Amino acid sequence: MTPHPDGPGPGPAEPPPARCPVHPALSDSGPVDLLGPENEKDPMGLYERLRVEHGPVAPIVLDGGIPAWLLLGYRENLEVSRTPSRFSRDSRHWHAWKDGGIGADSPLLPVVGWQPMCTFADGDEHERLRAALTESMGRFDRRGIRRHVTRFTHQLVNDFCADGGAEMVTAFAEQLPMLVLTQLLGMPDEYGPRLVEATRDLMKGTETALRSDAYVTGALKGLVDRKRADPGEDLASWLLAHPSGLTEEEVVQHLRLVLLTGNETTTNLMANTLRMVLTDPRFRASLAGGQMTLPDAIEHVLWNEPPLTVVPGRWATGDTELGGQRIKAGDMLLLGLAAGNVDPAIRPDIGAPMYGNRSHLAFSGGPHECPGQDIGRAITDTAIDTLLLRLPDLRLAVEESELSWLSSWISRHLVALPVEFMPRRPEPDIVDEPAASVLPSRPRARPTPEREPAPAPLAPAAEGPGAMASGHVPWWTALWRRLLGRPSGSAPYGRRPGAP
Ligand code: HEM
Repeated sequence: MTPHPDGPGPGPAEPPPARCPVHPALSDSGPVDLLGPENEKDPMGLYERLRVEHGPVAPIVLDGGIPAWLLLGYRENLEVSRTPSRFSRDSRHWHAWKDGGIGADSPLLPVVGWQPMCTFADGDEHERLRAALTESMGRFDRRGIRRHVTRFTHQLVNDFCADGGAEMVTAFAEQLPMLVLTQLLGMPDEYGPRLVEATRDLMKGTETALRSDAYVTGALKGLVDRKRADPGEDLASWLLAHPSGLTEEEVVQHLRLVLLTGNETTTNLMANTLRMVLTDPRFRASLAGGQMTLPDAIEHVLWNEPPLTVVPGRWATGDTELGGQRIKAGDMLLLGLAAGNVDPAIRPDIGAPMYGNRSHLAFSGGPHECPGQDIGRAITDTAIDTLLLRLPDLRLAVEESELSWLSSWISRHLVALPVEFMPRRPEPDIVDEPAASVLPSRPRARPTPEREPAPAPLAPAAEGPGAMASGHVPWWTALWRRLLGRPSGSAPYGRRPGAP
């Protein structure tokens, strides 16, 4: 097949291929910018148009002109992710990088700028870094993680259950994963809300991305300093102590990686699964009738709405062929996970249910396949299960057609999920369990330290979360009490007007 003239990489221009008569506008206006408005509005529509025009591997541009290849085929995605010798994870292979085409202020930098972490490593170096991560993450007891999720779910539900309604993306799906992840990392709860904002912003590739990235990295550096002096039973301390011998910078970068990939992805999975549970009659009927479990429903969502639509990236180590396109050494390839999952070559009947089938691309494949997938599934599953137990009459408060999504170049985010239910009293406070009780029963080297103070920029002294922390009262509980005009020490809950 003739290489596409708009294809990435330096090289002589070649004649354009035959145009698709149905979609002339696409090629007439040049290659699609994945950070542009067309992708923002309807990424799935865009992928299908690209597939019609180019086949399983399509030329696109990033940030107004940097060329790259978007993989639309299921097989091509697997081939690239499973062949690191041809398609490296090391962005320093990128010719745009070598040619100085990526400015220091590029919004792509937080996601593709090379950093000393396993995402950008191949071979032995990747194994060294990844072993530290997977072995440390493997020390978490699954039941312990579920207990964290249950506790935070109850606390979040307590914040809105007396209201008879809530917006579940902001009040729930965007809060819970970060609250759980900060616990796993060893951070105090108080970091959660600000980190939610900062991590989302830096993944969007907007002009504030670099500032948000600096905030996240600063918070993690502070954590690592504290854990070096006073280790606990958490990811930060375990990474510092791992025999792979990670440097302090490597530990910070891997904690950042866990926060970034773990939060945005699990938030999206939770929001989309909840949306389907509330809107899709098959799910409601099946869940009620016991034919399909919540984990099955989650896999279905991972097929049709993978939390990361695109993964940047891989870089060709030499000239090669893929999906009929000629790829040049140093070209960037983007794994199109959402497009690959609906590739007609493997899913000729797109409406056929995929319950329980785990062969989707949502966690990618090959040596970099997501090591946190079971944690992401456990958070989503436990949270929705607990939520539905607390609010079994939960229903959508708007027409399904009113729901909308916002897309960035790498993910697609449900904007809002307004729900309603019968107002209920909050349940009694769930006591903050000490870390030891949610961890496997292994001897602890030293007592779990007291909560650490929140960093200055996060907490306006007397009012902020840091102030609450000293009394061991979670910030949301204290806020709730303030809103209802109750002192911290009073009996926590009472009826609201109209509550049953
Ligand atoms: C449901 C939620 C999640 C989804 C859909 C997801 C998806 C992904 C994907 C697509 C990758 C990229 C793999 C590649 O480069 O080919 C990845 C990597 C990664 N994920 Fe996840 N992830 C999820 C949750 C998590 C969680 C909760 C954690 C940590 C607790 C985590 C930690 C990581 C790490 C450390 C990597 C880098 C692995 C490497 O480069 O070797 N993920 N994830």
